[in-house]
Amino acid sequence: MYNVLVTKQLPGNWLNYLSNYCNITLWEKNIPPTKEWIIDNIKDKDGILVTLTEKVDKEIIDKANKLKVISTYSVGYDHIDVKYAKSKGITVTYTPEVLTDATADLIFGLLIAVSRRIVEGDKIIRAGKWDTPWYPTFMLGREVNHKTLGIIGMGRIGKAIVKRAKGFDMKIIYNSRKPHTDVDAEFVELDNLLSNSDFVVIAVDLNDSTYHLINEDRLRKMKPTAFLINASRGAVIDEKALINALKNKWIGGAALDVFEHEPVITSELFNFDNVVLTPHLGSATVETRDKMAEIAVKNLLLALRGEKPIYEI
Ligand code: GLV
Ligand code: GLV
Repeated sequence: MYNVLVTKQLPGNWLNYLSNYCNITLWEKNIPPTKEWIIDNIKDKDGILVTLTEKVDKEIIDKANKLKVISTYSVGYDHIDVKYAKSKGITVTYTPEVLTDATADLIFGLLIAVSRRIVEGDKIIRAGKWDTPWYPTFMLGREVNHKTLGIIGMGRIGKAIVKRAKGFDMKIIYNSRKPHTDVDAEFVELDNLLSNSDFVVIAVDLNDSTYHLINEDRLRKMKPTAFLINASRGAVIDEKALINALKNKWIGGAALDVFEHEPVITSELFNFDNVVLTPHLGSATVETRDKMAEIAVKNLLLALRGEKPIYEI
């Protein structure tokens, strides 16, 4: 039996499965464990299964004398010091691919919601403010079909967004570290993307080169009618600069699933009707969260046994 630390309850039966092979120390609450709890419990563990709210930094890694594997239940791994873990011979695994379609679906949902004012319309009805029968100039949004979609980052999720955008006859441009030959979309420089897109979608992961990638300068380059959509990590956008952009109408609106300091949201964002907010729901489907549990648990077990995990970082 291996000794493992698990920092969240997981949906489905995968922790039961894991308990056939491991002694599990489980943090049972939905609020994240404290760093002290992790440090106190990691000393004698062979593996740890974490989610994106647990920062696994040098201090924690240094306390883990026996650790063979860090398995994160997420596609993002900005919460883990991967380089340091690897330098200590620790395998780091994650759960990409299984959440790509769910996340791309949500991104498209956000894109349509903000441009067609779906959430705003719902609020008006519930507030009893829909008091005039249909008339031609009521609540006009912006068309999605045939518009220009600019995707920043062209990994798995970027490609899944391209597939969906094709169905809406959008013109698709993108920017990423390098052009991709297997993508039916035009590679452009970032400035060009920002100034020509009707929708700018963020599909990069968070790292040193993408922190506050969307800053005041870049927001100013967007069309005043364009919408910014983000379901990657909040810190890719400078939230203060975004609020400034919304106040000054440099952009047409924003749809955000992620924030710099979740679950705390800069309350000024609540003031804008042209902003749609969701609480980090990118992968939040019954099907996907179950698959993520399967992959995270199997990654953990494979690495503990010295075999090749399904997805290693
Ligand atoms: C969610 O944000 C993830 O990284 O899986
Ligand atoms: C991200 O920037 C990528 O190259 O996909």
